[in-house]
Amino acid sequence: MEKMCFLTWVLVGLNIMMMGLSVEVEGLGVNWGTQATHQLKPDMVVQMMKENGIQKVKLFDADSETMSALSGSGIEVMIAIPNIQLSDMVDYDRAMQWVRKNVTSYSFNGGVNIKYVAVGNEPFLKSYNNSFLNVTLPALQNIQNALNEAGLSSVKATVPLNADVYESPESNPVPSAGIFRPDLSDLMTQIVQFLHKNNAPFTVNIYPFLSLYGNDNFPFDYAFFDGPANPINDNGILYTNVFDANFDTLVSSLKSVGFGDMPILVGEVGWPTDGDKNANLGNALRFYNGLLPRLASNKGTPLRPGYIEVYLFGLIDEDAKSIAPGNFERHWGIFRYDGKPKFQLDLSGNKGQNNVLMGAQNVYYLDPKWCMFNPEAQNLSTLADNINYACTYADCTALGYGSSCNNLDANGNASYAFNMYYQVQNQNDLACNFEGLAMITTQNISTPTCNFIIQINPSYSSSLRPSLVGLFFVTISIILFL
Ligand SMILES: *[C@@H]1O[C@H](CO)[C@@H](O)[C@H](O)[C@H]1NC(C)=O
Ligand SMILES: *[C@@H]1O[C@H](CO)[C@@H](O)[C@H](O)[C@H]1NC(C)=O
Ligand SMILES: *[C@@H]1O[C@H](CO)[C@@H](O)[C@H](O)[C@H]1NC(C)=O
Ligand SMILES: *[C@@H]1O[C@H](CO)[C@@H](O)[C@H](O)[C@H]1NC(C)=O
Ligand SMILES: *[C@@H]1O[C@H](CO)[C@@H](O)[C@H](O)[C@H]1NC(C)=O
Ligand SMILES: *[C@@H]1O[C@H](CO)[C@@H](O)[C@H](O)[C@H]1NC(C)=O
Repeated sequence: MEKMCFLTWVLVGLNIMMMGLSVEVEGLGVNWGTQATHQLKPDMVVQMMKENGIQKVKLFDADSETMSALSGSGIEVMIAIPNIQLSDMVDYDRAMQWVRKNVTSYSFNGGVNIKYVAVGNEPFLKSYNNSFLNVTLPALQNIQNALNEAGLSSVKATVPLNADVYESPESNPVPSAGIFRPDLSDLMTQIVQFLHKNNAPFTVNIYPFLSLYGNDNFPFDYAFFDGPANPINDNGILYTNVFDANFDTLVSSLKSVGFGDMPILVGEVGWPTDGDKNANLGNALRFYNGLLPRLASNKGTPLRPGYIEVYLFGLIDEDAKSIAPGNFERHWGIFRYDGKPKFQLDLSGNKGQNNVLMGAQNVYYLDPKWCMFNPEAQNLSTLADNINYACTYADCTALGYGSSCNNLDANGNASYAFNMYYQVQNQNDLACNFEGLAMITTQNISTPTCNFIIQINPSYSSSLRPSLVGLFFVTISIILFL
């Protein structure tokens, strides 16, 4: 017993020493999504978070391998119930079972520091056609009640919501006029009342990038923090960026239903680096270099001065994410697919410090081999079909308009698609044929702007999640290898 205490103290001491090396934005969090064909092992990711001083993480499930990697790390964790499981949680016994398995079992000294349970993920997005409208509140109630009954009332259930659950009327488009969307008004009021009763925060995802995306009239500079020429004047309060305006629209919406002081947590905020004309390294850096110092200064927003709890989206690129919302979906990471930092970014938000992002350690790659279009191919009649096939099972989003590989010629396009497929298939020889249109090369065929990647060696990365297996053809040779 005494030995353990001593050890704990040594560890605490080490932690403090490590933290002492860098002063970070107070409790900066990140989102750790895992929709990738080749994932870094969870313990590598946890190590990487520690080295970057990241103290909070938001997950999209409660995967056991991820949870064991987080055990003993001290990192504060938000685990989640995916939307498709919400209807199960309408049954209280099932909710209790979920809590037992995914919260109670990690709640011991040296276990996982679970702070929040996210009940669903943006369940009221319009594109979900109201599918989760009836189940979200009962699921939220059952999960929090089950937590309370299990003696875990310090763990708070919350619902990460997209910012379109509230709005300002078109007649008066200012933050102070914010209200919940009329079609959701009753439901949102009940959710907010329940959160309040349990001292749980409201969780919102705010995306200045999306304000810009698909709206060419949106004032570009207003998406960032370095000041547009014409701020929006809301009864004397000047709004110079859409993040503040959006956040304060929520504050007003909460106020309109009687809970103007409810704690708000920003569950996701970030900027993608590829897959759209506005998604690039320069804009992402501009965004983060505005956001992080602001967070560090605890300036808050005009209606909510002070500290804001924020989770960046996201930690690592996810090459198997749905691109229904747009090609940029697979490029949200501040780290690439392989845990390499995309840019020099100082998470401390303290400009004088010049901390840099620390990449993942001990990442092993496949061989330096690429799959390319065979320039000697004669019959090109099936080329389009083969490119399509490759891009159905691998990520070709960098080829699109405004993206990093959009300037390739037709052969380059084919090579890019073929290589992405070949890498997803772990450089299986059979995956670089494409009816004779492709060949393997050991020459790096990247261009200055377009990186033809080499994937992570699967022996050193996490296996595909079951949900992904259906998405990708498991090739015969992989089966033979097994
Ligand atoms: C615990 O979480 C995992 C991962 O999200 C989920 O698949 C599983 O169903 C949960 N366990 C229970 C008993 O609900
Ligand atoms: C929502 O409805 C549209 C049009 O009816 C349909 O195309 C889409 O697949 C539906 N989405 C979901 C998630 O059910
Ligand atoms: C939700 O419940 C209402 C009332 O019970 C019902 O009319 C509606 O069809 C349900 N909606 C969905 C999407 O299940
Ligand atoms: C090219 O290949 C297609 C499909 O294999 C075939 O139908 C076509 O006859 C071929 N054309 C020539 C000129 O060989
Ligand atoms: C390459 O592919 C992209 C995306 O599919 C397309 O926009 C572009 O026109 C293609 N370029 C050529 C030269 O075929
Ligand atoms: C290939 O070349 C690109 C561009 O020069 C470079 O960034 C990348 O690291 C190289 N890849 C490998 C595996 O050497």
